[in-house]
Amino acid sequence: MPFSKFKTPEKYRYQTGFGSYQESEAVEGALPIGQNTPQRPPFGLYTEKISGSAFQAPRPDNQQTWLYRIIPSVVHEPFEPEALQDGAEQATNYNAYDDLVHTPTQVRWDPFDIEEKADWVHSMHLLCAAGDVSTKSGLGYFIFTAGNTMDPTSAFSSADGELLIILQTGVLDIKTELGHLLVRPLEICVIPRGIKYNVSLPEGPVRGYALELHQGVFTLPNLGPLGSFGCANTRDFQIPVAAYEEATEGVEYKIISKFNGRLYEARQGHSPFDIVAWHGTYYPYKYDLGRFMTVGSISYDHPDPSIFTLLASSEGLAELAIFPPRWLVMENTFRPPWYHRNTMAEFMGLIQGEYDARTDGGFRPGGASLHNVMVGHGPDSATHARASEMELLPQKVGEGSMAFVLEANVLLGLSQWAWSKSNKRQLNYNARTWLGLRSHFKKPEKAKVISPFLDQQLKSSGEVQARVNGH
Ligand SMILES: [Fe+2]
Repeated sequence: MPFSKFKTPEKYRYQTGFGSYQESEAVEGALPIGQNTPQRPPFGLYTEKISGSAFQAPRPDNQQTWLYRIIPSVVHEPFEPEALQDGAEQATNYNAYDDLVHTPTQVRWDPFDIEEKADWVHSMHLLCAAGDVSTKSGLGYFIFTAGNTMDPTSAFSSADGELLIILQTGVLDIKTELGHLLVRPLEICVIPRGIKYNVSLPEGPVRGYALELHQGVFTLPNLGPLGSFGCANTRDFQIPVAAYEEATEGVEYKIISKFNGRLYEARQGHSPFDIVAWHGTYYPYKYDLGRFMTVGSISYDHPDPSIFTLLASSEGLAELAIFPPRWLVMENTFRPPWYHRNTMAEFMGLIQGEYDARTDGGFRPGGASLHNVMVGHGPDSATHARASEMELLPQKVGEGSMAFVLEANVLLGLSQWAWSKSNKRQLNYNARTWLGLRSHFKKPEKAKVISPFLDQQLKSSGEVQARVNGH
């Protein structure tokens, strides 16, 4: 099926497209015609603009949206550091950039535990990161494990970057300033920097992965020789339609802002979700991974995994690639990924099922792995043995499975929480996965040795040792 079968039915309407100009009005006539800032906007609304790029950014990169709302965003009490109810530790889960652990070893985590009491905002844990939030450089990887719906009179936004959300379990009902998004497992969603939203959990606890881009935004990769379509198709991205609520008399709203990795709160007497109409190019969106048109080799070998890229960041910083169920038909080919080292850091997660290149049972939905810059990795020893011997019939892999990789062109540091405090890091990952690989090298007796290496040219190992020792 070229789309996912969801247990939870859709409840909202959407516009479609990617990066295209959109407009939406929740009340007919609320959008001004032909101009952005009429002297008196329709129905007594205020005009507000949100800019996601420099004003003069080239047209394809320009992200601005005009908002027509009941009360402007500026109307709130001053922001103060968030008053924490469940322990001061929560606020520090976001900002741990000064205390990162950098290690060239392979890292893998067991599935992270749900935190029953934590809501969306307070269940976010930084796993690894690079860069600096205040200078808009780098990115942060998070895991969320929320058991609680956000207070309906609260709204959250991050000034620190655009957030890609990869849900693993549960359902997210996201009310944003620009409209509603229902996100179910196998759907991903992107919330731009600064857009306010509230997350409720209609089906109980949720867990998933998130990547915050401090610089740039997500874009659709170019298709090159593939032509005009394939991989993620433009029409399959879904954008909310305008929806608004009016303030209830006497209700106070809490606005939570993540700003330089810290949480701040402000009070206001009107709903932040009061945009009656909007038009522009800066908006949240979602995408069903089941709609991805997976492309691969139909002859021999397999292409670089970039063939599975769904989203790429505008500044070449990060990419999301997914591994959907697919047919493998390549002849005379080692079909799992080859062993490799990469200048990109590779963070992997699993939404459901079993990833076909890692069948040792240690890479589980809700867990993760990180193979950092130039860190060697590849199939585990059992997968290698099986794939080297198997009969190469056409084969469907990944049935019921969805793994993903979030590559980044930075050297990632691990948060103290990811390294030790969460107690989820597998201490035996390397040994369990690869140390079982044995040499199968056997030089045919009659084959002539033409290696230029010293040890092949010297007659005895004693002679080699003497040279090594400098004698
Ligand atoms: Fe890799």
